[in-house]
Amino acid sequence: MDLIGFVSRFAHILAAITLVGGLFYICAVQSRALEEADESDAESSVEALRRRWARIVMLTTLFLIASGFYNLIATIKAAKAGQIELAPLYHPLIGTKILLAFVVFFLASILAGKTEAARRFQQKSRKWLTMAVFTSIVIVALASALKVGGTRTVVTEGEITTSDTGD
Ligand code: HEM
Repeated sequence: MDLIGFVSRFAHILAAITLVGGLFYICAVQSRALEEADESDAESSVEALRRRWARIVMLTTLFLIASGFYNLIATIKAAKAGQIELAPLYHPLIGTKILLAFVVFFLASILAGKTEAARRFQQKSRKWLTMAVFTSIVIVALASALKVGGTRTVVTEGEITTSDTGD
């Protein structure tokens, strides 16, 4: 596998989601929730933050599941049609990635929830948030590995040009 390609993609995506995610959280959740909440009441501020964040968790989870399965089906179709070849590790890596994604979806939603079970998780939120962040980093590493070494475009004879053959 192209190791420099992997590290560059992994660092790029991780830095981008950290920066954009952080800015988005401050803009769409924190600053608006704190405006809405009664400034003197810390509890109402926390509840306003939770409500706003819960909506975003629900929407982003939905989009990630829909777009993720769409991408996966498109990749499998292209492999079946002989347009690309899947590396032997493609299925184990994507399987692990999807499984870990559901761990992150679960932790994100329970940490934003308001049920009795959710409150119990929220009492140890630091521990579960750390676990969610580390699991997300592993997911991005798996996604980068899949992107860099997971598939190979099949070049048919008619498509070979002089630059492909090195002439
Ligand atoms: C926490 C949730 C998730 C995160 C953070 C995440 C992140 C990523 C990232 C960063 C990429 C690489 C995009 C690129 O390099 O162009 C990717 C690709 C992909 N993701 Fe996800 N993803 C998540 C959930 C899911 C789910 C639930 C599925 C369901 C099938 C999925 C399926 C895929 C597929 C098929 C690819 C393309 C892999 C390839 O062949 O290169 N992802 N994801």
